[in-house]
Amino acid sequence: MKLKIEKMDYEGRGISHVSEKVCFVKKALPGELVEAKLLQDEKRFSIYETTEVLTASPIRKTSLCPFSKECGGCALDIMSYEDSISLKKEMLKELFKKNNLPIKEFEIVKSSHAYGYRNKISLKIENGQLGYYKEETHQFVPIKNCLLAKSAIQNLMKDFSLFHIKNGDMTIRANQNDELLLSINTKEKMEIEKKLIEKHKIAGIIWNNKCVYNSSFFIEHINHIFYKVHANSFFQVNIDIAEKIALDIEKEFKKEDILYDLYCGVGYFSLKLARITKQVLGIELNQNAILNANYNASLNKISNVSFHLGKVEDILEKISVKANKVIVDPPRSGLHKNVRKVLKENKFEKIIYISCNPKTLARDLQNLMKTYTLTSFKAYDMFPFTKHIECVCILSKKMENEI
Ligand SMILES: C[S@@+](CC[C@H](N)C(=O)[O-])C[C@H]1O[C@@H](n2cnc3c(N)ncnc32)[C@H](O)[C@@H]1O
Repeated sequence: MKLKIEKMDYEGRGISHVSEKVCFVKKALPGELVEAKLLQDEKRFSIYETTEVLTASPIRKTSLCPFSKECGGCALDIMSYEDSISLKKEMLKELFKKNNLPIKEFEIVKSSHAYGYRNKISLKIENGQLGYYKEETHQFVPIKNCLLAKSAIQNLMKDFSLFHIKNGDMTIRANQNDELLLSINTKEKMEIEKKLIEKHKIAGIIWNNKCVYNSSFFIEHINHIFYKVHANSFFQVNIDIAEKIALDIEKEFKKEDILYDLYCGVGYFSLKLARITKQVLGIELNQNAILNANYNASLNKISNVSFHLGKVEDILEKISVKANKVIVDPPRSGLHKNVRKVLKENKFEKIIYISCNPKTLARDLQNLMKTYTLTSFKAYDMFPFTKHIECVCILSKKMENEI
């Protein structure tokens, strides 16, 4: 089917129409004429994938990654980094317009590294080969390298044969010192060659949830704070952007502030902000992350912070110390409805909403803006060349006469 692409949707797909039915076309750019194959046909829309570009957009370039066609993780590495930023801006504007949100002009802060920025990747292993699942499928795509990963991770991938693994999965993390933490799951026994340990800075290996070499965590050092990060705890994947976000949000706090850091992980924001505020209370459901967060507070000699284990939606209301400001950094699903309710009822002075999913952010903003005014919006390119983006919103309590 030949399709003419009109514009981009907020998930990085081209939009076209066939007899008034909207078609989402993967791997196509605005202005292009493409040959595409049908992947999914629904009553109100269809999804296609480009098989051939018949008339290319002037911004289209060849991907640097030899696996990009099959893998699809880097939907935007078919253009320059600058162009990918402009396109992400259009994608966000489209989403906000669709959701009637008053966000029209804003900055996207660029990543200092467009490649080699990811400090964590999760790979599949099938028949002795490393790979990713093709986006939104369980179709295995063998890869030998991933240009988004930090060089220490790419170097380890080159030595994959030294692991002797046939089937399973492997998550590789690298810290700022290029130390590597590996989490591997296999059915068969794993026999790692000694050469691998000698050649790479392996901080630890966890095999089927058991630490089998050295340690189950490593230490990350960012901007004068040390963080113990357990293999299965969340940690920011692009440190350059995480630092830029932290520097920007620090400006929103004063010495007398009491702050809730909701979805706090191992305390990335809590520990930074404890240094410039009166008190910080973090909430997080991952037990290892909470153990690490407490350890991190004492490691950095920070005593005005406490961490609380549980789901934010269950324990937020039970915390006796009342905060005047809140940070929320939820997973892709966004805020639970109970959390939105508590945020609205308590009318905090300020909410800083950090989001890795603009779609759920838009939903939550629509709801929170009954009680809060959106005073600032900025996007950060945490995930260059992919369709993903991080957003930070500042919401301030509405005055009585504004409600
Ligand atoms: C996007 S990460 C943010 C982590 C942290 N703010 C940071 O910068 O490292 C989201 C975190 O929320 C946690 N989480 C997910 N659902 C949760 C819930 N319902 N209640 C509390 N924490 C949750 C995850 O374990 C993860 O650590």
